[in-house]
Amino acid sequence: MCGIVGYVGTGNAGHFLLNGLRRLEYRGYDSAGIAILSAGELHLTRSVGRIEALAQRLGSDAADGPTGIGHTRWATHGPATEINAHPHVGGDGEVILVHNGVIENFQILKDELIGKGYDFKSATDSEVVAHLIAEGLKVTPETPESPNLRFVQAVQWAIAQLRGTYGLVVSFRERPQMLIAARFGSPLVLGVGHGEFFVASDASPLAGCTDRIVYMADHQLAVLTPEGFSVLHRDQGKVNVQIQPLEAADDEVSLQGFDHYMLKEIYEQPEALRNAMRGRLDEENATAVFGGLNLTPQQLRSVERIILTGCGTSWHSALVGEYLIEELARIPVSVEYASELRYRNPPIENNTLVFGITQSGETADTLAALRETKRKGHRTLAICNVVGSSIAQAADGGVYLHAGPEIGVASTKAYTSQCCILTMLALYFGRLRHLSYEGGQRIIQELYGIPGAVQEALNCNERVKEVANKYQDATNVLYLGRQYNFPTALEGALKLKEISYIHAEGYPAAEMKHGPIALVDTKTPSVFIVPQGSTYDKVMANMEEVKARGGPIIAVATKEDPMVDAVADDVIRIPDVPSILQPIVSVVPLQLLSYHFALLRGCDVDKPRNLAKSVTVE
Ligand code: F6R
Repeated sequence: MCGIVGYVGTGNAGHFLLNGLRRLEYRGYDSAGIAILSAGELHLTRSVGRIEALAQRLGSDAADGPTGIGHTRWATHGPATEINAHPHVGGDGEVILVHNGVIENFQILKDELIGKGYDFKSATDSEVVAHLIAEGLKVTPETPESPNLRFVQAVQWAIAQLRGTYGLVVSFRERPQMLIAARFGSPLVLGVGHGEFFVASDASPLAGCTDRIVYMADHQLAVLTPEGFSVLHRDQGKVNVQIQPLEAADDEVSLQGFDHYMLKEIYEQPEALRNAMRGRLDEENATAVFGGLNLTPQQLRSVERIILTGCGTSWHSALVGEYLIEELARIPVSVEYASELRYRNPPIENNTLVFGITQSGETADTLAALRETKRKGHRTLAICNVVGSSIAQAADGGVYLHAGPEIGVASTKAYTSQCCILTMLALYFGRLRHLSYEGGQRIIQELYGIPGAVQEALNCNERVKEVANKYQDATNVLYLGRQYNFPTALEGALKLKEISYIHAEGYPAAEMKHGPIALVDTKTPSVFIVPQGSTYDKVMANMEEVKARGGPIIAVATKEDPMVDAVADDVIRIPDVPSILQPIVSVVPLQLLSYHFALLRGCDVDKPRNLAKSVTVE
């Protein structure tokens, strides 16, 4: 969480910093701040709330200069107040710092620094790092032969004492034309321009500023000046890094006429699905192909078990993956919350593949779960959207979603893309085992039809709006589905909770009788996901049970279903697709339903309270 930006060059930092923070706001939005060094003067502006509040405070005549750093915060230590907002100033003002991550030993360090006379203003763990670097400057000798070296050494000295995670950018009043960035556990990307260099938590602020980027790795430090940049390993000297093209176009991160990123991303799903499939379906061999799994044919054939792990929405797609892989490939699959897996010690047999599923590629628990299983000798793979992210780098291989930037905090297109990738993986593993050529061919043809089916499902928007209007005063909603649509029920409930703050529960439809049915009353709508398929009659029977108790019923049903109207109060129609692909289509009306509920209730759709897009703390 938290977003960081930095600029050093010959231009003016202010414009990039403010725009960059706007693009990183999804990472946290409790408070924000910018520090600009201009003619030896520090101009520090911080404010509580969104970036727009900061922009207003900066006003049109804000000081500008050639060096600056900025931060948007998701509070961990200390409430969202101006004093706790970044940048923080260390020593007597000689060090200015922004930090993303958590310093676990901050209290011990803080006590020591207070003992040495440092004056703390905030309750944050980050201010400790600012003062520690100031102390580092005191204990590091001058280096006249290489003026930047002393500052690098001060940062190295300080970070050697930190326990926890950090992405840091540091500016020094004495060396206004230099920034130092350091990474451990929290992502940082460098932007390489001409006479100007950028640093940010991810590549989105760099789109439109440069098309060349460097992903920093853990334990690396970067020194940026208007003349160039260099990257060092924390204790092993200079590192040769690869400059990579930045593929995100500027307009990919703009709203393009939509009112919200979430709505834009819901509507981008047909295209995202095409991108997920592009070049990966091999009709000749009736299978899927993946360039990045990095597994030998021998390893592929000897897989005996698969673990799918992730958090939140990505965990829901893992559940879909479990059904798919077990059905098509007959490989036993376990689905694990990454936050649990990282501290559990389950027996994991040899020949187990561990997939971390993640949109951002930065979720701390997913990263830790993958590292832990890798440490125990298992092959780890990532199903990830953000290219070059920490999880993409940490895994032994993986598959990118290619869904494009997902900015809305509620995950939508990443979820359906994950389901699509998992379907192709199930096909791939299935074809290495039991799945017939004809079976593989059929699935490929069905997959080709999915972007069109999602496009058609989007036509339900007006109907969904009516339904949201009718039930907008609900305070509890049940989401019920079976088999492939049980994860859809969970995902629908999560979407509603997170952006409209309405309590919702997702359940396997038949499980409802074992407890949640007690919640059913005339004011509690139940959303049944009931497309045609093997459990259709069973779910219809569950619907009757709710109806018999006076509960209003919203049904997500197949276009051609003539029976559902007799039971449900409101029906939302989706196109008919095979059961294994239903999760990709049936979730669309539920995404839209939560969107319209949130709008009607005046909620901030793209930036729901208390949440952040990348959860980089555990
Ligand atoms: C919900 C949502 C979160 C994320 C979760 C994992 O809409 O977005 O539940 O799915 O924080 O994030 P990633 O997929 O980035 O690891």
